[in-house]
Amino acid sequence: MKGLFITFEGADGCGKTTQMKMLAEFLSGKGHDVVLTREPGAKGLGEKLRGILLNYDGMVSDKCESFLFLADRAQNVDTIVNPAVQEGKIVLCDRHVDSTVAYQGYGRGLDLNEINMLNNLATGGRKPDLTFVFDIDVETSMKRVGSEKDRMESAGIEFHNRVRQGYLELAKQEPNRIKVIDASLSIEEIHKKVVEVIRGYCG
Ligand code: TYD
Repeated sequence: MKGLFITFEGADGCGKTTQMKMLAEFLSGKGHDVVLTREPGAKGLGEKLRGILLNYDGMVSDKCESFLFLADRAQNVDTIVNPAVQEGKIVLCDRHVDSTVAYQGYGRGLDLNEINMLNNLATGGRKPDLTFVFDIDVETSMKRVGSEKDRMESAGIEFHNRVRQGYLELAKQEPNRIKVIDASLSIEEIHKKVVEVIRGYCG
């Protein structure tokens, strides 16, 4: 069987991680071999990089931040995603290339062409077969995150509005790959929509 690479994207607090886990259970229940991973922070070195990216309290330049996310991505793709997909597994990944476009590109204002080029280098050009963007307004997502915010979550309302617009723009550019789901619905309603989309990919 052909493997699949599916990514989960959206604002902090959009509920993507919950949906990813629900889909993993659904697919495992259908007999598929499912692998879960995340960026930043795939198992091993990625966990160290995640600690720096989210908790380092000194100054981090925008470019350094991007390169750290990209280093983590290369490691995830080379050591987890590609081997699993080649074995015919379904890989579900919490955040991937579109996060860097939305957060470092639209959010921080780095050059989008450069980010696309760097993303390509990090992934070897492999794109996800399918991407879910869980769309939610920034006020609601920040409320869900609560008062204990990490370095990225503390970047401010305007930053997070730009991130949201970035995701919606990406979805317009690649409607076949990127499916936008209204993340203000209930967890069960969202799961139903995810499953409807998935049926077109792996029955
Ligand atoms: P995540 O673990 O998904 O946090 P949460 O569970 O709170 O959504 O992502 C960590 C943070 O890293 C999140 O704020 C988005 C940010 N990020 C980027 O800015 N660029 C990237 O390329 C990636 C992968 C994540």
